[in-house]
Amino acid sequence: MPTFREILLQTETALLKADVFFGHGYESAHDEAVALVLAAARLSPFNTGTEVLERAFPDDASATLGVLLKQRCGDRLPLAYVTGEAYLGPLCFKADSRALVPRSPIAEIILNGFAPWFQDEQPAVIVDVCCGGGSLGMLAKLVFPNATVVLSDLDDAALALTQENSQRHPVDGIVKGDLLAWCADDSVDIVIANPPYVDAHDMADLPPEYRHEPGLALVGGDDGLDLVRVLLHDAARLLRSTGLLLLEVGNSQDALDELDPCLHPTWVDLEQGGHGVAAFMAQDLAQWAGKTSFNGGESK
Ligand SMILES: C[S@@+](CC[C@H](N)C(=O)[O-])C[C@H]1O[C@@H](n2cnc3c(N)ncnc32)[C@H](O)[C@@H]1O
Repeated sequence: MPTFREILLQTETALLKADVFFGHGYESAHDEAVALVLAAARLSPFNTGTEVLERAFPDDASATLGVLLKQRCGDRLPLAYVTGEAYLGPLCFKADSRALVPRSPIAEIILNGFAPWFQDEQPAVIVDVCCGGGSLGMLAKLVFPNATVVLSDLDDAALALTQENSQRHPVDGIVKGDLLAWCADDSVDIVIANPPYVDAHDMADLPPEYRHEPGLALVGGDDGLDLVRVLLHDAARLLRSTGLLLLEVGNSQDALDELDPCLHPTWVDLEQGGHGVAAFMAQDLAQWAGKTSFNGGESK
Protein backbone atom coordinates (compact mmCIF):
# COMPACT_ATOMS: atom_id res chain seq x y z
CA MET A 1 0.00 0.00 0.00
CA PRO A 2 1.47 3.43 -0.90
CA THR A 3 2.19 5.93 1.87
CA PHE A 4 0.63 9.38 2.25
CA ARG A 5 3.99 10.80 1.13
CA GLU A 6 3.91 8.86 -2.15
CA ILE A 7 0.27 9.74 -2.81
CA LEU A 8 0.99 13.39 -2.07
CA LEU A 9 3.78 13.46 -4.63
CA GLN A 10 1.62 11.74 -7.26
CA THR A 11 -1.21 14.21 -6.62
CA GLU A 12 1.10 17.20 -6.92
CA THR A 13 2.46 15.84 -10.19
CA ALA A 14 -1.07 15.31 -11.55
CA LEU A 15 -2.02 18.92 -10.71
CA LEU A 16 1.10 20.29 -12.40
CA LYS A 17 0.56 18.10 -15.49
CA ALA A 18 -3.04 19.31 -15.81
CA ASP A 19 -1.77 22.90 -15.60
CA VAL A 20 -4.59 23.92 -13.26
CA PHE A 21 -4.84 27.57 -12.18
CA PHE A 22 -4.11 28.53 -8.56
CA GLY A 23 -6.24 31.57 -7.75
CA HIS A 24 -8.69 30.46 -5.11
CA GLY A 25 -6.80 30.61 -1.84
CA TYR A 26 -4.08 28.02 -2.55
CA GLU A 27 -0.88 29.21 -4.18
CA SER A 28 0.81 26.03 -5.40
CA ALA A 29 0.31 22.46 -6.58
CA HIS A 30 1.85 21.28 -3.31
CA ASP A 31 -0.68 23.19 -1.17
CA GLU A 32 -3.60 21.92 -3.25
CA ALA A 33 -2.23 18.36 -3.18
CA VAL A 34 -2.09 18.46 0.63
CA ALA A 35 -5.70 19.67 0.78
CA LEU A 36 -6.94 17.02 -1.68
CA VAL A 37 -5.11 14.14 0.00
CA LEU A 38 -6.35 15.14 3.46
CA ALA A 39 -9.91 15.60 2.17
CA ALA A 40 -9.86 12.17 0.50
CA ALA A 41 -8.65 10.59 3.75
CA ARG A 42 -11.17 12.66 5.77
CA LEU A 43 -8.43 14.26 7.86
CA SER A 44 -8.51 17.84 9.08
CA PRO A 45 -5.62 20.17 8.18
CA PHE A 46 -6.05 21.71 11.64
CA ASN A 47 -4.96 18.62 13.57
CA THR A 48 -2.97 16.47 11.15
CA GLY A 49 0.82 16.62 11.44
CA THR A 50 3.68 15.40 9.25
CA GLU A 51 3.71 12.06 11.10
CA VAL A 52 0.90 11.01 8.74
CA LEU A 53 3.34 11.03 5.78
CA GLU A 54 4.76 7.56 6.50
CA ARG A 55 1.36 5.97 7.15
CA ALA A 56 -0.33 3.78 4.54
CA PHE A 57 -2.90 5.64 2.42
CA PRO A 58 -6.22 3.72 2.78
CA ASP A 59 -7.76 2.05 -0.30
CA ASP A 60 -11.13 3.77 0.07
CA ALA A 61 -9.34 7.13 0.24
CA SER A 62 -7.55 6.28 -3.03
CA ALA A 63 -10.88 5.81 -4.77
CA THR A 64 -12.17 9.11 -3.37
CA LEU A 65 -9.00 10.91 -4.38
CA GLY A 66 -9.48 9.70 -7.96
CA VAL A 67 -12.92 11.33 -8.07
CA LEU A 68 -11.66 14.58 -6.51
CA LEU A 69 -8.72 14.76 -8.94
CA LYS A 70 -10.99 14.28 -11.92
CA GLN A 71 -13.12 17.21 -10.76
CA ARG A 72 -10.07 19.40 -10.15
CA CYS A 73 -7.96 18.48 -13.21
CA GLY A 74 -10.59 17.38 -15.72
CA ASP A 75 -13.53 19.65 -14.91
CA ARG A 76 -11.27 22.42 -13.57
CA LEU A 77 -13.45 23.06 -10.51
CA PRO A 78 -11.80 25.33 -7.91
CA LEU A 79 -10.40 23.19 -5.09
CA ALA A 80 -12.91 24.49 -2.55
CA TYR A 81 -15.83 23.32 -4.70
CA VAL A 82 -14.19 19.88 -4.97
CA THR A 83 -13.68 19.46 -1.23
CA GLY A 84 -16.84 21.39 -0.32
CA GLU A 85 -15.05 23.65 2.13
CA ALA A 86 -12.78 26.68 2.30
CA TYR A 87 -10.64 28.11 5.08
CA LEU A 88 -10.28 31.82 5.74
CA GLY A 89 -8.31 32.83 8.82
CA PRO A 90 -9.17 30.40 11.58
CA LEU A 91 -12.63 29.53 10.23
CA CYS A 92 -13.83 26.77 7.91
CA PHE A 93 -16.76 27.51 5.59
CA LYS A 94 -18.97 25.34 3.46
CA ALA A 95 -18.18 26.22 -0.17
CA ASP A 96 -19.96 25.38 -3.40
CA SER A 97 -20.91 26.98 -6.70
CA ARG A 98 -23.74 28.99 -5.11
CA ALA A 99 -21.18 31.62 -4.06
CA LEU A 100 -17.66 32.83 -4.71
CA VAL A 101 -14.87 30.80 -3.09
CA PRO A 102 -13.88 32.72 0.10
CA ARG A 103 -10.44 34.27 -0.41
CA SER A 104 -10.75 38.00 0.17
CA PRO A 105 -7.62 39.75 1.51
CA ILE A 106 -9.99 41.87 3.62
CA ALA A 107 -9.83 38.90 6.02
CA GLU A 108 -6.35 40.04 7.11
CA ILE A 109 -7.66 43.49 8.05
CA ILE A 110 -10.63 42.05 9.94
CA LEU A 111 -8.37 39.70 11.90
CA ASN A 112 -6.22 42.72 12.83
CA GLY A 113 -9.34 44.21 14.43
CA PHE A 114 -9.60 46.76 11.54
CA ALA A 115 -6.47 48.49 12.91
CA PRO A 116 -5.33 51.10 12.16
CA TRP A 117 -8.29 52.02 9.98
CA PHE A 118 -11.16 52.02 12.46
CA GLN A 119 -10.35 54.62 15.06
CA ASP A 120 -13.31 54.44 17.42
CA GLU A 121 -13.13 52.06 20.39
CA GLN A 122 -15.45 49.21 19.36
CA PRO A 123 -17.70 49.04 16.31
CA ALA A 124 -21.35 48.61 17.33
CA VAL A 125 -22.69 47.77 13.85
CA ILE A 126 -20.81 46.05 11.02
CA VAL A 127 -22.33 45.28 7.61
CA ASP A 128 -20.84 42.81 5.14
CA VAL A 129 -22.47 43.78 1.84
CA CYS A 130 -22.21 41.43 -1.16
CA CYS A 131 -21.52 38.74 1.41
CA GLY A 132 -21.57 35.68 -0.87
CA GLY A 133 -21.23 32.66 1.43
CA GLY A 134 -20.71 34.98 4.41
CA SER A 135 -17.04 34.45 5.25
CA LEU A 136 -16.04 38.09 5.85
CA GLY A 137 -19.00 38.98 8.06
CA MET A 138 -18.54 35.77 10.05
CA LEU A 139 -14.87 36.60 10.63
CA ALA A 140 -15.92 40.08 11.78
CA LYS A 141 -18.34 38.52 14.28
CA LEU A 142 -15.51 36.29 15.55
CA VAL A 143 -13.30 39.32 16.19
CA PHE A 144 -16.07 41.58 17.53
CA PRO A 145 -18.59 39.24 19.23
CA ASN A 146 -20.39 42.18 20.88
CA ALA A 147 -21.00 44.03 17.61
CA THR A 148 -24.20 43.59 15.63
CA VAL A 149 -22.99 42.00 12.40
CA VAL A 150 -25.39 41.91 9.45
CA LEU A 151 -24.68 40.24 6.10
CA SER A 152 -26.46 41.00 2.83
CA ASP A 153 -26.54 39.88 -0.78
CA LEU A 154 -28.93 40.04 -3.71
CA ASP A 155 -28.60 36.43 -4.73
CA ASP A 156 -30.91 33.81 -3.16
CA ALA A 157 -28.45 30.98 -3.79
CA ALA A 158 -25.59 32.83 -2.08
CA LEU A 159 -27.89 33.73 0.82
CA ALA A 160 -28.89 30.07 1.24
CA LEU A 161 -25.20 29.20 1.59
CA THR A 162 -24.75 32.06 4.07
CA GLN A 163 -27.62 30.63 6.12
CA GLU A 164 -25.93 27.22 6.15
CA ASN A 165 -22.59 28.73 7.16
CA SER A 166 -24.28 30.72 9.90
CA GLN A 167 -25.21 27.42 11.59
CA ARG A 168 -21.46 27.02 12.25
CA HIS A 169 -20.65 30.71 12.68
CA PRO A 170 -23.70 32.65 13.92
CA VAL A 171 -24.26 36.30 12.95
CA ASP A 172 -26.94 38.83 13.88
CA GLY A 173 -28.78 39.17 10.59
CA ILE A 174 -28.88 37.99 6.97
CA VAL A 175 -30.68 40.33 4.60
CA LYS A 176 -31.66 40.08 0.95
CA GLY A 177 -31.07 43.47 -0.61
CA ASP A 178 -29.68 45.45 -3.52
CA LEU A 179 -26.32 46.71 -2.26
CA LEU A 180 -26.99 48.94 0.79
CA ALA A 181 -30.36 50.37 -0.22
CA TRP A 182 -31.97 48.58 2.77
CA CYS A 183 -29.69 50.29 5.32
CA ALA A 184 -30.77 53.37 7.35
CA ASP A 185 -28.76 56.63 7.24
CA ASP A 186 -26.01 57.12 9.86
CA SER A 187 -26.50 53.61 11.25
CA VAL A 188 -23.31 51.65 10.54
CA ASP A 189 -19.75 51.79 11.92
CA ILE A 190 -18.00 49.57 9.40
CA VAL A 191 -19.00 48.47 5.92
CA ILE A 192 -17.06 45.54 4.47
CA ALA A 193 -17.55 45.26 0.71
CA ASN A 194 -16.16 42.73 -1.73
CA PRO A 195 -18.54 43.42 -4.64
CA PRO A 196 -18.29 42.04 -8.18
CA TYR A 197 -15.47 44.07 -9.76
CA VAL A 198 -13.97 42.12 -12.67
CA ASP A 199 -13.77 44.41 -15.70
CA ALA A 200 -14.69 43.40 -19.25
CA HIS A 201 -11.07 42.80 -20.27
CA ASP A 202 -10.33 40.45 -17.36
CA MET A 203 -13.71 38.69 -17.76
CA ALA A 204 -12.74 37.72 -21.33
CA ASP A 205 -9.47 36.21 -20.06
CA LEU A 206 -10.62 34.30 -16.98
CA PRO A 207 -9.09 30.84 -16.41
CA PRO A 208 -11.68 28.02 -16.48
CA GLU A 209 -11.80 27.70 -12.67
CA TYR A 210 -13.48 31.12 -12.36
CA ARG A 211 -16.22 30.14 -14.80
CA HIS A 212 -17.61 27.77 -12.16
CA GLU A 213 -18.25 30.75 -9.86
CA PRO A 214 -21.53 32.71 -10.20
CA GLY A 215 -21.36 35.44 -12.86
CA LEU A 216 -23.24 37.75 -10.49
CA ALA A 217 -20.26 37.48 -8.11
CA LEU A 218 -17.70 38.58 -10.70
CA VAL A 219 -19.01 40.86 -13.46
CA GLY A 220 -18.35 44.52 -12.71
CA GLY A 221 -19.02 46.12 -16.11
CA ASP A 222 -16.58 47.75 -18.56
CA ASP A 223 -14.23 49.25 -15.97
CA GLY A 224 -15.22 46.90 -13.12
CA LEU A 225 -16.82 49.71 -11.12
CA ASP A 226 -20.53 49.53 -12.01
CA LEU A 227 -21.54 48.51 -8.48
CA VAL A 228 -18.68 50.34 -6.77
CA ARG A 229 -20.03 53.72 -7.93
CA VAL A 230 -23.33 53.03 -6.18
CA LEU A 231 -21.68 51.54 -3.10
CA LEU A 232 -19.54 54.62 -2.48
CA HIS A 233 -22.61 56.85 -2.36
CA ASP A 234 -24.54 54.33 -0.25
CA ALA A 235 -21.65 54.09 2.23
CA ALA A 236 -21.37 57.87 2.48
CA ARG A 237 -25.04 58.00 3.43
CA LEU A 238 -25.19 55.25 6.03
CA LEU A 239 -21.83 55.40 7.79
CA ARG A 240 -21.61 57.13 11.16
CA SER A 241 -19.13 60.02 11.41
CA THR A 242 -16.30 57.80 12.74
CA GLY A 243 -17.13 55.01 10.32
CA LEU A 244 -15.05 53.07 7.83
CA LEU A 245 -15.61 51.52 4.41
CA LEU A 246 -13.30 48.69 3.40
CA LEU A 247 -13.73 48.07 -0.31
CA GLU A 248 -12.05 45.41 -2.43
CA VAL A 249 -11.70 46.14 -6.14
CA GLY A 250 -8.71 43.93 -7.05
CA ASN A 251 -7.39 44.63 -10.55
CA SER A 252 -9.81 47.57 -10.88
CA GLN A 253 -7.56 49.56 -8.53
CA ASP A 254 -6.33 51.86 -11.33
CA ALA A 255 -9.89 52.49 -12.49
CA LEU A 256 -10.90 53.49 -8.96
CA ASP A 257 -7.88 55.81 -8.70
CA GLU A 258 -9.06 57.51 -11.89
CA LEU A 259 -12.78 57.52 -11.07
CA ASP A 260 -12.91 61.00 -9.58
CA PRO A 261 -10.05 63.37 -8.66
CA CYS A 262 -11.95 64.30 -5.47
CA LEU A 263 -12.14 60.70 -4.27
CA HIS A 264 -8.91 59.62 -2.61
CA PRO A 265 -8.80 55.87 -1.96
CA THR A 266 -6.16 54.81 0.58
CA TRP A 267 -4.74 51.48 -0.57
CA VAL A 268 -4.10 49.04 2.24
CA ASP A 269 -0.69 47.29 2.43
CA LEU A 270 -1.54 43.61 2.74
CA GLU A 271 1.11 41.51 4.46
CA GLN A 272 -0.48 38.19 3.55
CA GLY A 273 -0.90 38.85 -0.14
CA GLY A 274 -3.58 40.27 -2.39
CA HIS A 275 -4.09 43.81 -3.62
CA GLY A 276 -6.75 46.35 -4.45
CA VAL A 277 -8.34 46.90 -1.04
CA ALA A 278 -9.16 50.55 -0.28
CA ALA A 279 -10.00 52.11 3.07
CA PHE A 280 -12.31 55.15 3.15
CA MET A 281 -13.00 57.18 6.27
CA ALA A 282 -16.65 58.21 6.61
CA GLN A 283 -15.83 61.90 6.92
CA ASP A 284 -13.86 61.88 3.65
CA LEU A 285 -16.54 59.93 1.84
CA ALA A 286 -19.22 62.25 3.16
CA GLN A 287 -17.35 65.31 1.95
CA TRP A 288 -16.86 63.72 -1.46
CA ALA A 289 -20.54 62.79 -1.72
CA GLY A 290 -21.75 66.18 -0.48
CA LYS A 291 -23.38 64.81 2.68
CA THR A 292 -24.16 67.74 4.93
CA SER A 293 -24.63 66.23 8.37
CA PHE A 294 -24.11 63.24 10.63
CA ASN A 295 -27.06 62.82 13.01
CA GLY A 296 -27.59 66.56 13.05
CA GLY A 297 -23.89 67.49 13.40
CA GLU A 298 -21.97 69.25 10.64
CA SER A 299 -19.57 67.09 8.67
CA LYS A 300 -16.05 68.47 8.34
C1 LIG B 1 -17.12 39.01 -5.26
S1 LIG B 1 -18.52 38.19 -4.55
C2 LIG B 1 -18.04 38.38 -2.88
C3 LIG B 1 -18.52 37.33 -1.94
C4 LIG B 1 -17.95 37.45 -0.52
N1 LIG B 1 -17.98 38.82 -0.01
C5 LIG B 1 -16.55 36.90 -0.44
O1 LIG B 1 -15.62 37.68 -0.19
O2 LIG B 1 -16.39 35.69 -0.63
C6 LIG B 1 -19.75 39.43 -4.82
C7 LIG B 1 -21.13 39.13 -4.25
O3 LIG B 1 -21.95 40.26 -4.59
C8 LIG B 1 -23.28 39.83 -4.81
N2 LIG B 1 -23.99 40.87 -5.57
C9 LIG B 1 -23.95 41.13 -6.90
N3 LIG B 1 -24.73 42.18 -7.19
C10 LIG B 1 -25.29 42.60 -6.01
C11 LIG B 1 -26.19 43.65 -5.67
N4 LIG B 1 -26.67 44.49 -6.58
N5 LIG B 1 -26.55 43.77 -4.37
C12 LIG B 1 -26.07 42.93 -3.43
N6 LIG B 1 -25.21 41.91 -3.70
C13 LIG B 1 -24.83 41.75 -4.99
C14 LIG B 1 -23.10 38.52 -5.55
O4 LIG B 1 -24.24 37.71 -5.43
C15 LIG B 1 -21.86 37.93 -4.83
O5 LIG B 1 -22.26 37.07 -3.80
